[in-house]
Formats: sequence, C-alpha cells, structure tokens
Amino acid sequence: MLVKLLSIWLLFIHSSWEMIPDDDSSCYQQCFHQPPEACPNPGSACRCRQLTNCKRAAVCCDINDDNFQDALKCGNFTADSVEALHIRNATLDELNISLPLWRRLRLRYMTITDGHIRSVAGEFAKHSVVSCLNLSSNGIGKFERRALVYLHNLSFLDLSRNNLSEVPSFKMEGPMKLDISENPSMMCSSVQKALNRSDITFIKENSTVCFKSTEYHWFNSTDIIELSQLKRLQEIETECYKNCTCKPHRLDIVMGKSPTFTVAMNCSGAKMLSLPVPLPLNTDTLDVSNNNITSLKELSHESYQHLMFLYADNNQIRSIQPLEGTKFMSNFDTLSLRNNKIKTIETYLLSNIRFYRTDSTRHMNLGLNKLTCDCSTARDFKVWLLTKFEHIRDYEELWCDNMNVRVIDLDETKLCQGEQEWTDYIYYVITVEVLLLVGLIAKVSYDYWVFKTSGYLPWPASKMPKLPCDWLCE
Ligand SMILES: *[C@@H]1O[C@H](CO)[C@@H](O)[C@H](O)[C@H]1NC(C)=O
Ligand SMILES: *[C@@H]1O[C@H](CO)[C@@H](O)[C@H](O)[C@H]1NC(C)=O
Ligand SMILES: *[C@@H]1O[C@H](CO)[C@@H](O)[C@H](O)[C@H]1NC(C)=O
Ligand SMILES: *[C@@H]1O[C@H](CO)[C@@H](O)[C@H](O)[C@H]1NC(C)=O
Ligand SMILES: *[C@@H]1O[C@H](CO)[C@@H](O)[C@H](O)[C@H]1NC(C)=O
Ligand SMILES: *[C@@H]1O[C@H](CO)[C@@H](O)[C@H](O)[C@H]1NC(C)=O
Ligand SMILES: *[C@@H]1O[C@H](CO)[C@@H](O)[C@H](O)[C@H]1NC(C)=O
Ligand SMILES: *[C@@H]1O[C@H](CO)[C@@H](O)[C@H](O)[C@H]1NC(C)=O
Ligand SMILES: *[C@@H]1O[C@H](CO)[C@@H](O)[C@H](O)[C@H]1NC(C)=O
Ligand SMILES: *[C@@H]1O[C@H](CO)[C@@H](O)[C@H](O)[C@H]1NC(C)=O
Ligand SMILES: *[C@@H]1O[C@H](CO)[C@@H](O)[C@H](O)[C@H]1NC(C)=O
Ligand SMILES: *[C@@H]1O[C@H](CO)[C@@H](O)[C@H](O)[C@H]1NC(C)=O
Repeated sequence: MLVKLLSIWLLFIHSSWEMIPDDDSSCYQQCFHQPPEACPNPGSACRCRQLTNCKRAAVCCDINDDNFQDALKCGNFTADSVEALHIRNATLDELNISLPLWRRLRLRYMTITDGHIRSVAGEFAKHSVVSCLNLSSNGIGKFERRALVYLHNLSFLDLSRNNLSEVPSFKMEGPMKLDISENPSMMCSSVQKALNRSDITFIKENSTVCFKSTEYHWFNSTDIIELSQLKRLQEIETECYKNCTCKPHRLDIVMGKSPTFTVAMNCSGAKMLSLPVPLPLNTDTLDVSNNNITSLKELSHESYQHLMFLYADNNQIRSIQPLEGTKFMSNFDTLSLRNNKIKTIETYLLSNIRFYRTDSTRHMNLGLNKLTCDCSTARDFKVWLLTKFEHIRDYEELWCDNMNVRVIDLDETKLCQGEQEWTDYIYYVITVEVLLLVGLIAKVSYDYWVFKTSGYLPWPASKMPKLPCDWLCE
C-alpha cells in the first residue's frame, strides 16, 4: 500500500516535471511569442490557457471587446501565476492598459499580435516590469503618446505592421531595440527623434520607412523616405567641419541606386586661412565667404569632386590659376570670388569654361577685384567679359588697380599702342634680315661662278685670311 502510494507520488512528481520542465529558456528569448497552435482548442469555453511547456506563461486567442474581461478572468491568472502572456487575434476597438486587470498582473513579456486593434489607450503603471512589448500586426492607428513612459525595464518594443503615425514616447535612457517597420503613415519627424538617441537599435531597418512632412522639402519628388536616408540626414549635421554648419542640399535619385544626399557646408566667417579639407561626403555647396583664405589650391583635393557651388567672397584669394584642370572647373554652377585680391585673370583658363545657352544659372562673380590692367586685359579679358556678360553678373564692377577705369571701359587702341609700334619694328628687322640673307646667298653663288670660270676669287673673299676649316676643305 505504502509502496503503491509512494510510486503514485513519484509518478505525480515525474509527470509534473514533464508538464513544466525546468529548462524553459526556449520560451523566452528577448520576447515571448507563441504560434497559433498554442491557442486553446476551439471547443474550449475559456479563450485563455496557461502553458504546460513554459513556466508562468499563458496564451489567449480570438478575443474581442465582449469576451475580453471574461477570457482573462477564466484563465485564472494572478501576478504569481503568469509573467508572460501572448494574446493572438484580438479584435478590439480600444486596448486600455490602465484597466485594473492589467495592473493585477506583473507581466515581463507582453505580446498582443495578429489582431485588429483600433487604438491603444491608458498608460502602464509605474511599477510595470515589462521588458518586451510586442504589439505587432494589429493595424493600430492611434497610440496614447504617454502609454509607455513608465516602462523602465523595456528593452524590446515591436510596433511593426501597424498604422502608427508617431513613435510613442518611451523611457528616456538605456539601450533598446525598436521595430517600427511597415507603418506606412509614420511621420519622419517622429522617427528622427528616435534616431537622435544612440542607444536605440532599429530592427528591420530596410523595411522601415517614414512619410515626409513639410520640413523635409528636399524630398519633393517622393513621399516615402527610407530609414537609411533619414540616418544619413542625421549624419550630415554631425560630420561637419569645425566652425561650419552642414545641411542636406539635394536628394539625388538615380534609378537602381539608393538615393544620396548632397551636402551644403557653410563656413561663412569661420576665421579660416585656407579652404577646408576634406569636405564631408558629397558636398556640392561650400560657402567660405568672409574668411582670410589666400588660395584656391585645395580645390583639386579629391573631396572637392562633387562641388558645384562655391562662394568665396571677401577673402584674400590672389589667383584663379589653381582652378586649372580641376573637376570643379568643368562642373561648377556658381563660382563667386567677389572682393578678393585677384590681380590677373588668365583668360586662357576662362576660355576653357563652357557656358551653354541652356544653363542660364551657371555663373561667376568676379567683381570688386582690382586687376592690374594691360594690353592683354583690354584685348583678351575685356572681350571675353563682354561676350560672357550674362554669366558674369557683376562684370561692371571689375576695376583696374593701376588706372582709374573699369575693365569693360578699357581702350584697347590706347593700351596696346606701344605694343603695336614695337611689333611693326620687329617686321622691319625681319625684312632687312631676309634681304641680307638673300644678298649673301647671291654673293656666294657669284663668287663660286667667278672662281669656276676665271680661276680667281673676287674681293673680299680673296683678301680674307685662311681659316683652319679651309685647310680641311682643301
Ligand atoms: C479571430 O477572432 C474572431 C472572433 O473574434 C474569429 O471570428 C476569427 O475567425 C479569428 N480569426 C482567426 C484567423 O483565427
Ligand atoms: C479557473 O479556476 C476555476 C475554479 O476556480 C476552474 O473551474 C477553471 O477550470 C480554471 N480555469 C482554467 C483555465 O484553469
Ligand atoms: C482607461 O481605463 C482607465 C481605468 O479604468 C480609465 O480611467 C480611463 O478613462 C480609460 N481610458 C480610456 C481612453 O478609455
Ligand atoms: C512580434 O509579433 C510578430 C507577429 O506575430 C512576430 O512576427 C514578431 O517576430 C514578434 N516579435 C518578436 C520580437 O518576437
Ligand atoms: C527592472 O529594472 C530595475 C532597475 O531599473 C531592476 O532592478 C529590476 O530587476 C528589473 N526588473 C526585472 C523584472 O527585470
Ligand atoms: C492609416 O492611417 C491613415 C491616417 O493616419 C489613414 O488615412 C489610412 O486609411 C490608415 N490605413 C489603414 C489601413 O487603416
Ligand atoms: C537631435 O538632437 C540635436 C542635438 O543633439 C537637436 O539639435 C535636434 O533638434 C534633435 N532633433 C530632433 C528631431 O529631436
Ligand atoms: C539592407 O540594405 C542594405 C543596402 O541597402 C544591405 O547592405 C543590407 O544587407 C540590407 N539588410 C538586410 C537585413 O536586408
Ligand atoms: C520643395 O518644395 C518647397 C515648397 O513646395 C520648396 O520651397 C523647395 O525649394 C522645394 N525643394 C526642392 C529641393 O526642390
Ligand atoms: C573656430 O573659431 C574659433 C573662434 O571663433 C577659432 O579660434 C578657431 O581657430 C576656429 N577653428 C577652425 C578649425 O577654424
Ligand atoms: C551661410 O550663412 C550665412 C549666415 O551665417 C548666410 O548669410 C549665407 O547665405 C549662408 N550661405 C548659404 C550658401 O546658404
Ligand atoms: C583677416 O585678417 C586680418 C588681419 O590679418 C584681420 O584684421 C581681419 O579681421 C581678418 N578677416 C577675417 C574675416 O577674419
């Protein structure tokens, strides 16, 4: 009898071991998630059941507004009996997490997925210890903004596949994984706030998009922005050169490639003595006005290859020579060098710039530089200026340093006069030289003919002393 009782007792212990194994770590990774097969069988009156293979875990299925409270009650859950709960296929108008039934439990894993929930209301209680909250795939459209602020233990928040327009607020610090993928109405401004925190890791980044709001005007061509692009926006502001500000300038969309941002860097009045090197990735606009930059030589640096707009007014730049052969020279849209220390403008450099009629925006500003004017300024540069004046918008503000006259008013006939006479003189010299040469050849030929026919050398060849070379010839 005793033996029998003992063996039954042992059997009971054994079977209870089998029912709830010690090692149920497979039930909870970061979160608690059960397949549809774990649901109570369709015939059972209670739509909730405690699991036998996982300790202190329960699954509820097919819950709606009418049977919600009853279902949770009939599951006999207490704070001691359940710390992981998965509710599948809940059809609710509103999920109110302030309701007393939630406060009675001390859930660490709360999973409500694959249902239809219109909105989430209320807030979690201050002492909540939820570490993973999965509200995925419910089509939730409204979420009480402060619902999650007291979840200090939260480390995983899955709000994927809903219809949220904002990321709800949650704990202010500590590492967290966040999945907001497949919420097509998510506003970018809200996502950017979450991006601002370095301790948040986004899950399923590639399927996370957000919907642009008006402040993202550079996305004019598209309504949906990928998270990676938004991250790039964030980086642009932080990767900037010291004393400068960086902003996204344009979104370049090339079919088959992921869109890239171009960067506009503004270093106006940053007390610079030379052009900044290197520029941030894809910088196409650089404003270095009001500095003490003396040279453009950094323009040939590799990081300047995307530059198209350069504003360098009010500096000490002396020469445009370093432009020669740079990518900027052939690509630029705007080059502004007003009020610098340029003395000479190499016209041959400028004539390499192609100003097409179609790109009416392409232009240079050169005004308020004091040029050293000479004949070539009047003859070459002035002419270039007058043919390209549409593209040199301040062409009337170019003055000569050595004479009180504007470059476009230079008088070529006056400036180039001296030069003209000198060139004429050169022609006379050349003419005389040619005549002398012809005379010499004629005389030598005549001497040779006389020597051949009469055997003597005419004067002066006969009177000249013999040279060592003559000995050789003889
Ligand atoms: C979800 O629950 C509703 C009842 O609330 C039920 O009619 C429906 O069949 C369930 N769907 C699934 C996929 O189980
Ligand atoms: C809950 O407890 C009641 C009695 O207290 C019991 O009849 C019922 O079967 C229990 N439900 C579950 C799902 O265990
Ligand atoms: C949520 O439930 C709490 C407690 O019952 C109640 O005070 C609150 O008004 C409810 N919120 C909403 C939006 O229904
Ligand atoms: C959350 O629930 C969804 C839908 O059932 C599931 O696909 C996802 O893997 C769950 N997330 C986690 C972290 O378990
Ligand atoms: C919740 O976090 C607190 C510290 O913030 C910690 O002491 C406590 O153990 C955590 N609770 C759980 C259940 O993880
Ligand atoms: C999602 O929300 C937007 C507005 O926020 C609404 O226009 C749209 O119809 C909703 N989509 C679904 C599937 O509920
Ligand atoms: C992100 O943080 C920076 C400063 O760290 C702040 O200037 C900026 O406004 C923040 N952006 C958002 C969207 O909160
Ligand atoms: C996300 O996209 C990037 C490039 O767009 C790719 O390198 C990466 O492997 C993708 N990640 C996943 C998880 O698909
Ligand atoms: C986008 O549109 C806004 C207003 O409609 C305009 O101010 C802005 O310049 C545009 N941005 C681009 C890059 O075209
Ligand atoms: C930034 O500005 C400060 C003063 O405004 C100056 O002392 C410093 O040299 C500048 N840094 C650079 C890199 O130009
Ligand atoms: C750079 O900033 C200054 C003021 O700080 C502003 O006047 C200027 O227009 C900006 N440059 C560009 C290209 O936006
Ligand atoms: C440039 O340097 C001179 C002195 O060398 C100084 O007086 C002037 O303020 C500087 N200009 C700028 C814009 O920093």
